[in-house]
Amino acid sequence: MTSTPPTPDPHDAEDAWDPREELLALVGSLRVAVERQARAGRWGAPATATLRPVAVADARRELSDEPARLPEPPDEAELEDGARPRPTLASVRAELGDCQRCKLAATRTKLVFGAGAEDAALMFVGEAPGAEEDRTGEPFVGRAGELLDKMIEAMGWSRRTVYIANLLKCRPPNNRDPAPDEASECRPFLVAQLGAIAPRIVVALGRPAANALLGMDAPIGALRGKFHERLGVKIMPTFHPAYLLREPGRKRDAWSDLKLVMAELERIGVHARA
Ligand code: URA
Repeated sequence: MTSTPPTPDPHDAEDAWDPREELLALVGSLRVAVERQARAGRWGAPATATLRPVAVADARRELSDEPARLPEPPDEAELEDGARPRPTLASVRAELGDCQRCKLAATRTKLVFGAGAEDAALMFVGEAPGAEEDRTGEPFVGRAGELLDKMIEAMGWSRRTVYIANLLKCRPPNNRDPAPDEASECRPFLVAQLGAIAPRIVVALGRPAANALLGMDAPIGALRGKFHERLGVKIMPTFHPAYLLREPGRKRDAWSDLKLVMAELERIGVHARA
């Protein structure tokens, strides 16, 4: 009798950190960023774009490889006039609609947009819905979600006072890694969610979320433990709760990352709200 092979889990390889691999990834992403800036005639501009109220179409253009069409940041007056209204979560959700932009539409049960406070100072971004999330339409409600709840509560917050979203809004079959085309279709909606919520700190859970937010391709072990400024917000990459369930010995490292987040929030005058 043959036994069923275990479902591959994308988080298993999470901690395979090779410094040479990291250096190669950094050089590669630096080259892409420099070429993009140079082609856009913005050589010398700061690497971190200011997070402006960004509509989904703008976000998609911003990520495009066609720099001639990169949008200019709206000026303050334009914003005050309402010419470029700040997106709301409702407007982002409406634009997402009954999304058919990638192949995951054919296999999802429910699209999982995100949940929590619209004005949250603290946001968590995971990878993609799993089976339980696909069934309920809520992010992080399976076993990994239970651990995430505990992490959030240990920080003095609650699921109600933070915002929780994923890079992908639809479940990849068998919880496989997000495919590049899926990530690039979905990422603009995550960026637009950031624009709507304007959190002070984003905790990126695991490699795919961290790399998508940072525009890099590096192991989580090389990214975690320090803040990265990107999209005008401070981003703290840390281990994904699903990885921590399998590697409980790494919880101590994740907690030290979360303590940095707590300290930074206090430093900027944002007090935890349960
Ligand atoms: N559930 C989610 O919503 N996201 C993940 O990344 C994992 C489980």
